[in-house]
Amino acid sequence: MLYHVLAVGDVVSEPGLAHLEKTLRPLKKLKNIAFTVVNGENAAAVGLTPEQAERIYDAGADVITLGNHSFDKPQIVDFLDEHSYILRPANYTRRAPGRGWGIYDLNGIRIRVVNLIGRCNLNWGADNPFTVVDQLLTGEKTDFTLIDFHAQATSEKLAMGYFLDGRVSALWGTHTHVPTADERVYPNGTGYITDLGMTGAVESVLGVKPEQSVEMFLGGLPGRFRAPEGPVKLQGAVFTLDSATGLCVGVERVDIR
Ligand code: FE2
Repeated sequence: MLYHVLAVGDVVSEPGLAHLEKTLRPLKKLKNIAFTVVNGENAAAVGLTPEQAERIYDAGADVITLGNHSFDKPQIVDFLDEHSYILRPANYTRRAPGRGWGIYDLNGIRIRVVNLIGRCNLNWGADNPFTVVDQLLTGEKTDFTLIDFHAQATSEKLAMGYFLDGRVSALWGTHTHVPTADERVYPNGTGYITDLGMTGAVESVLGVKPEQSVEMFLGGLPGRFRAPEGPVKLQGAVFTLDSATGLCVGVERVDIR
């Protein structure tokens, strides 16, 4: 049987959250989505609050993944321990709060979701994501395995795709907020895209007011990041998975404005 899994790119600030609340359920209906994973680590620009995590969940996410800003809002720490639907990278050290992976039930179909963080130009303090995920995959068997690899370098994400090809159902990248046009099924059956893109303001630099970003690159002080008003988008990808094999048969990018 085929299942459609939706992965949504990093939700940025209030415009992204409000757009997610408005568009996610109609999109799920339109694409017949069975399971949804949303990256939420920028819901408060940097980090997210428990209220924002609840809003993403109530909007229709089954699992929320995070990344380098996982703990930027200290009030999220207890929430990570208390709620199994929110994940921070699995290759953070053992002392980090929360969990990095979970197994979720979809009417008898078991789905493992793993959140990983890259180390190239991002978080050299994290454990090696390749060896951590390799170890994780020796655990309990599930029907599907989904990976959100929150990483900066396209090379690190592509290499992870080849490393896991045929062993996981789908692997997508997050963090750079710019969608890549390389969605495909890898030779051994893993669905892949280097980056999903973002959910938030269209006229922005990764969700931040362009003039603030320009000021920063000119060497000035941009002030507290603010999200622009105006048009918004939701970007992500739909992976069509086959429960007979646990692998992917098709990937389609989505961009809802
Ligand atoms: Fe990030």
